[in-house]
Amino acid sequence: MNNDLIKIKSEAEGEIRAAKTTADLERVRILYLGREQGKITGILRALKNTSAEERVRVGSFANALRSEVDRLLQQRMAELKKGTMGSALKEEWIDVTRPGARKPKGTIHPITQVRNNVEKIFATMGFSVVEGPEVETEWYNFDALNIPADHPARDMWDTFWLKQPENQKSEILNPKQTQNSKLKTQKLLLRTHTSPVQVRYMEKNNPPIRIIAPGRAYRYEATDASHDFQFNQLEGLMVDKKITIANFKAVMEEFFKRFFSVGTTIRLRPSFFPFVEPGFEIDISCIVCAGHGCSVCKRTGWLELAGAGMVHPNVFKHAGYNPKDVSGFAFGMGLERIAMMKYKIPDIRLFNSGDVRFLKQF
Ligand code: DAH
Repeated sequence: MNNDLIKIKSEAEGEIRAAKTTADLERVRILYLGREQGKITGILRALKNTSAEERVRVGSFANALRSEVDRLLQQRMAELKKGTMGSALKEEWIDVTRPGARKPKGTIHPITQVRNNVEKIFATMGFSVVEGPEVETEWYNFDALNIPADHPARDMWDTFWLKQPENQKSEILNPKQTQNSKLKTQKLLLRTHTSPVQVRYMEKNNPPIRIIAPGRAYRYEATDASHDFQFNQLEGLMVDKKITIANFKAVMEEFFKRFFSVGTTIRLRPSFFPFVEPGFEIDISCIVCAGHGCSVCKRTGWLELAGAGMVHPNVFKHAGYNPKDVSGFAFGMGLERIAMMKYKIPDIRLFNSGDVRFLKQF
């Protein structure tokens, strides 16, 4: 009997060592330790029919053998598992020094960049950023700004008017406006400039006022390299007791200097806008040729960048101020225009073209 056990032991050891997979090993386990047919299990079961003396002698050896085979099986199992893990690691080897797969990343639109930049510069001079609606009433866009009813800008050819059912025209009235004036027509349009924000803000706030109002404006017109039907403007307004053109000039000069990062001087040319008196156009000395004359400034040495002026008394009145108590300046400029100057962009239509070759450059 003992000889049998010794033989079984060496066989089992050999087969366990030879098992190449966990499935092989399971087969070996069943062969020796399986409940029904296992060779060692069989010997242990057969002990029932032997003498007590034999049972002790063989039994202890067979039990020891069972434990030993069990131990070897577990050991081999651990080896095989480690082996498969090892090969998986080899196959799925990761080179941690390899650059990762880059996700395509967008860039901030040049107009947004310019707007952020402009806001930052004015913020350091104490200006707050405010916004107004793009769908505006005829009152705020025109009447309140002293633009008379027969002004050509009100023509349907210049402005995107919104179709409104008759019954809705009164619904959008705000109570404060109806009390004040019958003049405040409520026809809706896409604002043609950001100037209406001036009146909206002054109605709700008292001087001193220092605001800028960036945002989109719309004109019903054909497009070309320097005109688009939608564009962005920057409105500015400063109102206090004794604001003069000198304050205005200082603020603008500082702004342009910092925005274009080159020293420029500004020039004010008399001009007309119904909501200011006096009114002017702001030119800056050409940032490309420093005023000597080049193709960008069309040999004049100057770049026309904004409209401005001292706020008209009627605008103050419409906002509920007494024009005798306050004075102030306002200005409006195109964000696309100053972006085109800064980055030398030849065509305004590129901004809304969605062309990534253009957008990627910023
Ligand atoms: N709103 C004018 C435009 O769109 C620009 C402008 C001119 C704004 C003079 C102003 C100003 O505030 O004072 O053409």
